[in-house]
Amino acid sequence: MLLPDSAERLELLQQTGKLIDEYYQQLETLPVAPKVRSSEIRQFLQDYDFEQSHDLKQVLDTTYRALRDWGMKVAHPGYYGLFNPAPSYAGVLADLLAAALNPQAGAWHHQPFGVEMERHVIKYFAGRFGLPVETAYGNFTTGGSEANSTGVLLALTRQLPEFTRRGLRAAAGQPVFYCSEEFHHSFEKIAHSCGLGRDAVRTIATDSDFRMIVSQLEQAINRDRELGHLPFMVVATAGTTNAGIIDPLAEIAAVCRQQQLHLHVDAAWGGAVILSDKLKSCLAGIEHADTITFDAHKLLSVPMAAGLLISREARWLADTFHVETAYVPESSEVGMDNYRLSLQFSRRLIGLKLFMTLASAGRQGYAETIEHQVAMAEYLAGRLVQHDWRLAIAPSLAIVCFADQQAGALASEQLAAHQAAIVAAVVDSGRAWISVTRIAGQPVIRVCVTSYLTRRRHVDELLQLLNQARAGLAVQG
Ligand SMILES: Cc1ncc(COP(=O)(O)O)c(C=O)c1O
Repeated sequence: MLLPDSAERLELLQQTGKLIDEYYQQLETLPVAPKVRSSEIRQFLQDYDFEQSHDLKQVLDTTYRALRDWGMKVAHPGYYGLFNPAPSYAGVLADLLAAALNPQAGAWHHQPFGVEMERHVIKYFAGRFGLPVETAYGNFTTGGSEANSTGVLLALTRQLPEFTRRGLRAAAGQPVFYCSEEFHHSFEKIAHSCGLGRDAVRTIATDSDFRMIVSQLEQAINRDRELGHLPFMVVATAGTTNAGIIDPLAEIAAVCRQQQLHLHVDAAWGGAVILSDKLKSCLAGIEHADTITFDAHKLLSVPMAAGLLISREARWLADTFHVETAYVPESSEVGMDNYRLSLQFSRRLIGLKLFMTLASAGRQGYAETIEHQVAMAEYLAGRLVQHDWRLAIAPSLAIVCFADQQAGALASEQLAAHQAAIVAAVVDSGRAWISVTRIAGQPVIRVCVTSYLTRRRHVDELLQLLNQARAGLAVQG
């Protein structure tokens, strides 16, 4: 019932291949953002009461169309979005293989190749980041949130060895950690879920370039110590979600060294540039990190979900996640069971899509793709300035944040509404997806070159859409 015969399997795979190919052939002509109401989708789902079975070919076809028509086309060259990439084709094939063979990557003895392959990839990136390859290790996660969560747990366990058994009762004061005010929101949820509470997240002001002010970090740590709190970690962001800003990593590392604090670098998005000899210098200082969050499903363009947490010392992972069970057979390879090194037990072979993409594109191929995305952002920034848009900040890697120069006289809330209307008109055209955000409280329009398929002509089209939307508002206004 669950496994069709060989001829049918081949037919279904051929059908899947054709649908995927149709998708990529049509992609540029499809509207980027869906226009649908929940009632329409719920009506469609009424056909599936699960009492009556359906022909798989028909299920495949209709599900594909529903996903296509009622979802954001993140691979579209006009999707300038929230880091969700156009997936590498090697990554798509890897995910298919991983689903078909269903390797359990939690234990070495279940999938020796898979675990060794992931180890190879983790060690490779540890080396690129400048961590000691001999001692460094890590694990693939569902994404940056889980990787950040792992980093916090490692840091807590390092600083408070009793935390493993006694939890936060082992602390003689309130443990606190530090991020810039441009930090990723996952840390609030993490602080909550590991029992620290959201007040444990100390946000440090940023300078005019939106980078953490290191002198304020030091002051905050000293103040907290005087109050009897227990600083245990600093999070430096290498590629903020808003604007791609990279905190001063080397200076923050020096503070961590002096204050004996764990340094976690959240390089979920920006870490990818470590593959580019041209761009990697912007990550200088990352080699001092104790733990690094680094997502393959962002700027490395592998299909979701693929995060990575790299730890300077493998033993910190073992100290944090060690468990004994009678029901999992011992592996012959000591220290290689992922379930004893990470939050997950049963888990997908996440690293395969990164391995296959890296193996087929090569580092140079990857570097060129990333450099291309950065070049497209720089091209857009130049064109925007020529057309009377104001850059809120110089473009950082592949992100451009800007405001309408012509609306400069508007008060902040009016400017926010005005720019939201421009963005809505661009999205409504179906030709591009961009968004609004705030940097240091100021409303800006955010464009991130997320799809490696974006070319100059797409950027020109986006500029045209922005100019038209602005002109349309001026006429109405
Ligand atoms: C800097 C940063 N850290 C962490 C995350 C969380 O990653 P994920 O969405 O994979 O959980 C994001 C997501 O955009 C991010 O931008």
